[in-house]
Amino acid sequence: MNKSAKLMAILSAAVLFAAASPSGAQNRPASRPVNLIRLNGGKFIYGVDYYPEAWSEARWTKDAQMMQAAGINFVRMGEFAWAKMEPKEGEFDFSWLDRALRILGAHGIRAILGTPTAAPPPWLYAEYPDIEAVNKEGVRYRFGSRRDYSLENPHFLAAARSVVTALAEHYKNNPDVLGFQIDNEVGSPRCYDSDCLAAFHAWCRAKYGTLAALNHDWGTIFWGQTYSAWSQIPLPWNTLYGVSNPSLWLDYDRFFSDATSDYVKMQADILRRIAPSKALTTNEMGLFDAIDYSELNRQIDFVAWDNYPMLAQDPKDYFAPGLAHDLMRGSKDNQNFMVMEEEGGLPGWSTFWSRQVPAMDYRLWAYQAIAHGADGVSFFRWRTSRYGTEQYWQGILDQDGVANSRYKVVARMGSELPKLTPLLEGTHVISPVALLVSPDSRWAFHIQPLVKGFNYDGQLALFYDAFRRKGINVDVIFPSDDFSSYKVLVAPSLFVVNPVLVSKLTRFVSSGGTLILTYRSGVKNQYNVVTKETLPGALSRLAGTEIHEFDPETTQQQTIVDRDGGIYPATVWHDILSPTTASVLAHYGEDFYAMRPAMTLNGFGKGHVIYLGTQSSSATFYDRLTGFADGLAGVHRGPVLPKGVEMSVRQRPGEKLIFLLNYTNQPQTVSLDEATRDAFSGDPQKREVKISPINLRILIAP
Ligand code: GLA
Repeated sequence: MNKSAKLMAILSAAVLFAAASPSGAQNRPASRPVNLIRLNGGKFIYGVDYYPEAWSEARWTKDAQMMQAAGINFVRMGEFAWAKMEPKEGEFDFSWLDRALRILGAHGIRAILGTPTAAPPPWLYAEYPDIEAVNKEGVRYRFGSRRDYSLENPHFLAAARSVVTALAEHYKNNPDVLGFQIDNEVGSPRCYDSDCLAAFHAWCRAKYGTLAALNHDWGTIFWGQTYSAWSQIPLPWNTLYGVSNPSLWLDYDRFFSDATSDYVKMQADILRRIAPSKALTTNEMGLFDAIDYSELNRQIDFVAWDNYPMLAQDPKDYFAPGLAHDLMRGSKDNQNFMVMEEEGGLPGWSTFWSRQVPAMDYRLWAYQAIAHGADGVSFFRWRTSRYGTEQYWQGILDQDGVANSRYKVVARMGSELPKLTPLLEGTHVISPVALLVSPDSRWAFHIQPLVKGFNYDGQLALFYDAFRRKGINVDVIFPSDDFSSYKVLVAPSLFVVNPVLVSKLTRFVSSGGTLILTYRSGVKNQYNVVTKETLPGALSRLAGTEIHEFDPETTQQQTIVDRDGGIYPATVWHDILSPTTASVLAHYGEDFYAMRPAMTLNGFGKGHVIYLGTQSSSATFYDRLTGFADGLAGVHRGPVLPKGVEMSVRQRPGEKLIFLLNYTNQPQTVSLDEATRDAFSGDPQKREVKISPINLRILIAP
């Protein structure tokens, strides 16, 4: 698909589903794309995560007034309120939530309600202590936290079905309820209890059919682990030395991811059947990798996720939230998404986060989300809790409830968004470059982490940042996605491959794409078993190179020397390449394999494959490598961006919105090579665009 065909496909899919599927639950596909701005009556979803149940009702009107005055039109509520919604088994009370919704509704604020299954009530634990999950060591958790139950426990599931059914029935016709968030941050803890074990056995049976097939594909001949009954198969729990068969372990990771998707589906099916007009989502966690989000997101209508830039990394690493936004967008066909929890204050549970940032940072991070395709942002949380585990986790308001600097910044953004909304609606992020995330490889590297210093996501970031420094939009996609619209595809350390993926990559390159592969690619088959072909295994022909030797050493001073004589550190892993049809782009500089190839280029069909046998700690190295790939593939770089400035583009036919975000404390200037208008004032803009400190500019270009 070319770029404009892709944009048209996204646009035509992204209708408000209620209009697109009038016929009710039976005829509806499991998941329907949602235009979030239309879902919210033409308004950008701008809100807060609100816990009215923790405050006196006398305060609710004041809250709603303050929210409205700040331009807030949305709240997410209820995801931990099971004990209040169902104080006794089978006795439901939504009256308090009805009152909150009425007050909010009267102030123009609508809601997504969380199904409250993230926090089962004490009576459920008391009645069925076995709902608690069991950890790897075989120890059952004890009541007192949240999301600590086994996803496979029948008592928990029955109670969850019952409360979700009651919630859906109660709110199916409430116009102030836009939709439901299923549970809260699903994906942990992994389960090791007997229900989970039984479910894993059923999963294995469904996948392999016979024990003979499982024994063969898992290579259970090793250490004499051949199974003669399904019931003998263990979970990768606390074995001696902490080891399990990597093939079993990878299937367990897949099983747990599937079990989580099935759990979301269980709730989604109930909600869809009873409340077909409501949009469904669940709040996800960016780079969190226990779940294959590309699979789970088939169950929901739009992606929502929780963005905590300060929690995730050094606040100076301004590209990192972008990578997570782009992965989240990519986990559901690059449809626009929303941030269900946007950092709105200092994080902290038992201890405070070590450093306060200016309130303006929160606005900039929220705009960064928009620049990457968010059509909704909800700050976590409206007001800092007086109670419980999160007393130190700052909301917009502090416990005292008075307007503070963060509230003023939120209000500033709230006053800006109505002007921006018509410009945003129908625009999408379109990228010439994609990073391929392989959930199988990510899991397999957790199981066998390769060497100290190896970090799969870290490698994604090295490439991601290099493209972003050039102002190039990047998609982050999954193996089941269509690769054909991209000019450059980077698939770092593609450790686990299967024939379908190899043929998709082959098609991509044959028809003109540029593929970048790196070390430890093609090593394992889909069963997490090492290939018996010469490395990089099924990718050898594409790469035009073979690997007969490698050096895993990470501490020595190895270097990569490129064809221009540039010397860069080679810090993680060293595949010593033996090109077959490829030419050499760089060689190693040190040790017994000095002058042996470190990076190759292979022409294949109409396209190219670059194979990099190592990893560098040098950003300049990745700038040069991606620049070379861009040159081969005809990707145009953006303007020169000062350090600390990010550019991201959203577009619709005939119009581009250019976001320039300045994360530094200094004014910055970017020189654009096209005529633009300022999105807020509409005024024509000089080519030299000035951006004040911790601020942004949004420009419209034809
Ligand atoms: C997560 C959860 C929230 C809250 C925040 C802060 O994102 O979804 O309920 O706990 O973390 O801790």
